[in-house]
Amino acid sequence: MQSLTELSAVCSVSTQPYSDQKPGTSGLRKKVRVFQQPHYLENFVQSVFNVVSDRSLLVVGGDGRYFNAEATQIIVRMAAANGFKRLLVGQHGILSTPAVSHLIRKYGAVGGLVLSASHNPAGPDEDFGIKFNNASGSPAPESITQAIFEQTKAITQYSTLESPDIDLSLAASHQLGATEVQVIDSVSDYLELMQTLFNFDRLREGFSSGLLSLCFDAMHAVTGPYAKAVFEDSLGAKSGSVINAEPKDDFGGGHPDPNLVHAKTLINLMAKEGAPVLGAASDGDGDRNIILGNNFFVSPSDSLALIALHAALIPQFKSGLKGVARSMPTSTALDRVAKHLGLNCYETPTGWKFFGNLLDQNLLSLCGEESFGTSGDHVREKDGVWAVLCWLTLILETGKTPQVLVESMWEKFGRSYYCRHDFEGVEANRANELMAALEERLPSLPGQNFEGFKVVSADSFSYSDITDGSITPNQGYRIIMGCGSRAIFRLSGTGTDSAILRVYLEKVAIKGEFNLLETDSATALLLKVAMEIAEIEQYTGMNKATVVT
Ligand code: G1P
Ligand code: ZN
Repeated sequence: MQSLTELSAVCSVSTQPYSDQKPGTSGLRKKVRVFQQPHYLENFVQSVFNVVSDRSLLVVGGDGRYFNAEATQIIVRMAAANGFKRLLVGQHGILSTPAVSHLIRKYGAVGGLVLSASHNPAGPDEDFGIKFNNASGSPAPESITQAIFEQTKAITQYSTLESPDIDLSLAASHQLGATEVQVIDSVSDYLELMQTLFNFDRLREGFSSGLLSLCFDAMHAVTGPYAKAVFEDSLGAKSGSVINAEPKDDFGGGHPDPNLVHAKTLINLMAKEGAPVLGAASDGDGDRNIILGNNFFVSPSDSLALIALHAALIPQFKSGLKGVARSMPTSTALDRVAKHLGLNCYETPTGWKFFGNLLDQNLLSLCGEESFGTSGDHVREKDGVWAVLCWLTLILETGKTPQVLVESMWEKFGRSYYCRHDFEGVEANRANELMAALEERLPSLPGQNFEGFKVVSADSFSYSDITDGSITPNQGYRIIMGCGSRAIFRLSGTGTDSAILRVYLEKVAIKGEFNLLETDSATALLLKVAMEIAEIEQYTGMNKATVVT
């Protein structure tokens, strides 16, 4: 053990509050340059420590993006000065988001600090973020994030150590003042967890017999080492199955968001004849996933529903699903499967933190969001590599390709044609005005007919958490039409500068009546209706979205 005790002296630093440290959908996200302002990161970290009083064990790690290493050193020093007895820090400061969640749970930590801006680009002019996860491994609930925000508005001092940097390059223990800092291998605990949830022997046979083959695009982000350890080293997927595997602090200049727009390398590869049976990618911090078959895209909402439908084949779920959940904008494919399986299906607001309480109360085993997030009750975050293991298991145990699996589900349960239109770069005031005007119009919509879509109900989604009675109002506007088609409007809570209007469209074709239309043609009329109802062009000046997924 290396001791830096002699060299360390606690000091209290005077500071002034910043007014913009309100955590959004998933922690505090800002441009790197904002985080680099004097005391900016320190203020937020001290505010977290002021809210969380337990000083036993804290986990720290991030997705390896620009500023990750520097931020890790700052946090380590502050945690030591604030009296934490023990810290678990990912080697090189790197831990995927699901890995942090697991480490918190496995080692009984009071929580963890996750350094990431998820799928947002990285670099000196790009994004950084920090999020506090609680003792169950879940992103802190609103009550905690609000308390942290209150602290940031009143902070006058923070504590840190005057000490040299910890060596993060090797897994080893260090004594920093009275704090034991353990730098740990980023992957091994996570790999061990996956081995308890899936049948690695069978999957290995699947790869060696040729029934399974995979292309996993790590997008130069955090999952490279995780995917190599799981798929290539443990399951015997052939070398090179994981592409763009080397994590880079600018993600190779790319946008590590595994969707139809940004996962083009993989999509092109999977369109070729002789492509592997499964194509997948994960995002910057390893929590999102995209699933592809040969020339076939599985929408995240369908992926969630399909995993639920075949959950009995997955060892983790061998004693049955307790319940399932989706975020409100996610398609209702899951609801139809849940009904068939006799399961409760919960509808929560956007953001993973809302699943936490339901999971903690054993009401759920599986949950997901349309934004390429899926996970189970093994962690309290979405989990990209885990979702790929689910799909490999389903392909192996059914002997069917992703396309056949999904089309059989549509045949039996109907199909939700689903897409999300993002209007990025909207001036914040205009976006707020649009939302205010739409809110005013909501009560007049039921009964009206737009291009054959008859509005059944229109409301502002307010979530009441059945586990603690908390109510979270104003989580997006829902317009529900005949046959269960929906148009949903909300503003993003993860952007770092201007506003992003998200419009989610779902057109339900009942079983036996879907006819393999392309999603954009199937939802074209619904898009027209949504544009009209929300007067999108009038407010934003845009007649089409900047990104469609
Ligand atoms: C977005 C997604 C949401 C996800 C979050 C964090 O939030 O829509 O589902 O939980 O990123 O990955 P938004 O920008 O819409 O607030
Ligand atoms: Zn992410």
